[in-house]
Amino acid sequence: MKIFVTGGAGYIGSHVVYHLLKKGHQVTVFDDMSTGTKKNIFPEVKFIKGNILNQKKLSEAMIGGYDAVMHFAAKKDVGESMENPNLYSENNITGTINVLKAMEERNIKKIIFSSSAAVYGIPEKLPVTLKSELNPNNYYGYTKLDVERIFEWLSKLGKIQYAALRYFNAGGYDPSGKVRGLEKNPQNLLPVIMEVATGKRKELLIYGDDYDTKDGSGVRDYIHVTDLADAHIKSLSYLNKNKESLVLNLGSGQGYSVKEVLERSILITKKMIPAKIVARRPGDAAALYTNSKKARKMINYKPKYSDIDTIIKTMWEVYK
Ligand code: UD1
Repeated sequence: MKIFVTGGAGYIGSHVVYHLLKKGHQVTVFDDMSTGTKKNIFPEVKFIKGNILNQKKLSEAMIGGYDAVMHFAAKKDVGESMENPNLYSENNITGTINVLKAMEERNIKKIIFSSSAAVYGIPEKLPVTLKSELNPNNYYGYTKLDVERIFEWLSKLGKIQYAALRYFNAGGYDPSGKVRGLEKNPQNLLPVIMEVATGKRKELLIYGDDYDTKDGSGVRDYIHVTDLADAHIKSLSYLNKNKESLVLNLGSGQGYSVKEVLERSILITKKMIPAKIVARRPGDAAALYTNSKKARKMINYKPKYSDIDTIIKTMWEVYK
């Protein structure tokens, strides 16, 4: 199939592109390179440098008979979204509307969208399921939910068929070492730990150790990016075989605390990883994990690499 990928030079996008290529699909990457890296543009890919806010360019880029769009291009820094919400409305909401308009102009009906566990906010009950309340507590999460609602409507109106994949905490790198682009100025726990281990950063700041969790630090569901990539390919097959759309939670089912992740990282990297407890980060939940039950049922989702040690090991292979 011919797949148009926005944000394909980024961390998750590039892993998915690599898997699409491995399966023999033809891929075009549309990326403004604001956070993506050149290293992530594989030679087999048709690359177009552009921003999704440039509707005209985006629409022209989508000429060529694409079967589906995978839409990764977005802003994803939770803290920044609270300080500069308009930037997030523009990139994540307006940007996605532009993608949808271009799809309509080019008669493309299928889209796979990078959504987020952030649509749930602070869950009342764990594990999070698709029935959990949608109540984002940061603006980033709100933009993802808003876009999902647009998709839901367009799907009801028969305009598109979509899969909204709500990622929990993506981590790891391609186990065969084929994807090696590092994120620029990452803010998420795992890449920050890696940068401290390599000496690029001085220390890890642990955002709070007074949560009601096993050791007081935040608990998350870490999912290997290769398992996420596989879920994208399976979701695309689902959309091809069935007439309906799909909303899925994608996690590993396991919750690990910041302190546990740090401890495993020290053991695996054999490096000093200095850490300091600081205040809680606004917008953070104490614990978030899911059972991905529906994903198992609908797309036969079976995470293979999502144990925390494999996630850390495969990241270290690239960062070291
Ligand atoms: C958030 C979003 C997630 C999104 C991701 C993208 C929520 C609830 N989740 O994940 O959906 O896809 O951002 O960026 O909004 N931590 C530290 N020190 C650090 C960094 C993180 O202690 O330097 C802690 C956090 O407090 C948290 C855990 O590590 O407990 C994971 O944080 P992070 O990796 O930033 O991801 P989320 O905020 O869970």
